[in-house]
Amino acid sequence: MSVIDEVKQKTDIVDVASQYTTLTKSGRNFKAICPFHSEKHPSFFIYPEQQSWHCFGACNTGGDVFSLIMKKEGLDFGEVLRHTAEIAGVTLPSRAGQATDKEKNDRLYRINELSADYFHQLLLTSPSAEKTRSYITRRGISNQSVNAFNLGYSPNSWDSLRQYLMERDYTEAELITAGLIIEVESAASHDRFRNRLMFPINDAKGRTIGFGARVLDDSMPKYTNSPDTPLFYKSSCLYGIDLAREAIRQQDMAVIVEGYMDVIAAHDNGFGNVIASMGTAIADRQVSNLKKLSKNIVLALDADTAGEEAALRGIIFENSLGAEVKVAILPKGRDPDDVIRESKDTWQSLINEAIPVMDYTFDRVTAGLDLNTARDKSLAVDRLLPIISQMNDLIRKSHYFQKLARLADITPNQLQMIFKNKAAERNHGKSFNKGNKVAAAPSHNILTSNPREEYYLSLLLQHPELKTLSSSIMPEYFENSENREIFNAYLSTENISSLKETLDDFIREHLDSLVAKSLPDKNLEGRLSDCILLLKKESLNLCVLLEKKMKLRIFLSTLLRPGLNLDYIL
Ligand code: CTP
Ligand code: MN
Repeated sequence: MSVIDEVKQKTDIVDVASQYTTLTKSGRNFKAICPFHSEKHPSFFIYPEQQSWHCFGACNTGGDVFSLIMKKEGLDFGEVLRHTAEIAGVTLPSRAGQATDKEKNDRLYRINELSADYFHQLLLTSPSAEKTRSYITRRGISNQSVNAFNLGYSPNSWDSLRQYLMERDYTEAELITAGLIIEVESAASHDRFRNRLMFPINDAKGRTIGFGARVLDDSMPKYTNSPDTPLFYKSSCLYGIDLAREAIRQQDMAVIVEGYMDVIAAHDNGFGNVIASMGTAIADRQVSNLKKLSKNIVLALDADTAGEEAALRGIIFENSLGAEVKVAILPKGRDPDDVIRESKDTWQSLINEAIPVMDYTFDRVTAGLDLNTARDKSLAVDRLLPIISQMNDLIRKSHYFQKLARLADITPNQLQMIFKNKAAERNHGKSFNKGNKVAAAPSHNILTSNPREEYYLSLLLQHPELKTLSSSIMPEYFENSENREIFNAYLSTENISSLKETLDDFIREHLDSLVAKSLPDKNLEGRLSDCILLLKKESLNLCVLLEKKMKLRIFLSTLLRPGLNLDYIL
């Protein structure tokens, strides 16, 4: 038994939950007012046999005892593990690495800070930065922004930064880990960034964690960025977030653009709530950082890529934000930098006129279709139904369901039938379920863990190429905290070794077992999509079951005498 299992075994979810809310017995289980959102009627359930919880109300999520504490106390997995282990009297094996991880990271932060200051000073004073300074002027960047964004210049040299930092007692290995120098086989390592305009990338606390670097001419690639390091994961950063925090909070709105230059132009012109996704598809992690500041998010999207981006990520983005996301579409061939510098009013009205991401997806999908024809009605349903079906918010989901029914000129009930048939079609005839028509009842026993979740994760970890097919899976689909943690971290890391860096030591062991699991090697995509369906179905089943129960309860309470305890019946 792993140490995580031992801690779980000695921790009773009923005890833990009863510290957060008042539990009432409901059959074998307990129900309560949800400790995470305000509600009048209990929709928070504890299942002692499975040692799991689920909120069927606004949270619409659940998990095991760890995720309950994590969510309630705002702690990460490792903190919860250590805390519960102490209470349960389980001694965690001491990890020599643990104390030093923090020290190692502190040194990496310091290396980035020193480098940013080094580049900045060169930009301000070095004769060799003359061209860069005039480039900055030509692009209309103010001195104020040069300072606020700590812009810099990396000299045209193979080892000036390397020398500068090694003189300050940082090792070559540390500089490689920080992504600032590149290791070359059978030659000396050298500076990664040379003769470039440097954009330090900061975390929300203002600590520099990586760099973007632009060439000063038309050569390619235009930008070089830090690789993923223990501090820097490109897909979980938002450029400018440290400077934009206050404005986002005050204006209760964040505008996400693509590029460094766009953020600087925006801030230069008084639009302080603008941040950049740095060209990557916007990831879940970026959203979770943002939603603490504001839930009103506008994506300013480039006219060429807007369609795919909005449809692909929009819903996932909305689900993790728990709110509607809007998109503002830029004029063709222009980026926010161009638009803002040309006319602040145009930019302001683009943002004001942003439309909900789902409406935009509807427009895009139906743009080339003739909805008077049967064929195109069917196409519109084929393309939009899977997107709508992923929406978590039931009210907005039903709104778009009706909108689609209207477009296809059918009743919402008919559309519902189509949806059910399609889901059933996909469920049948796939390998995972063969000879096992009714999927085995989900085993929630946390001590033997969740085989379905683990099978899915093993597939994904052992075949990273399948990752792109997994965009519809949400971390909430995982009941088991270790699996959820691994999935979450894997979304924003490139490979298993960088994934390991981000995980708590104890979860690493679990990860190793997933990576080592032996799997069939045929029909991987089919197996993955089966898993995805089953994971979704499992989380959906729970919801449907409770929704039915609630409806029945309301119905019965209108028939039966007041005060009768319905728990005996339901
Ligand atoms: N990007 C990148 N690597 C590239 C190209 C782009 O990392 N080779 C990222 C950068 O974060 C860049 C953003 O994608 O800021 C948007 O790219 P682009 O619009 O091409 O660059 P701009 O920031 O608009 O730069 P410029 O205006 O100088 O062309
Ligand atoms: Mn640009």
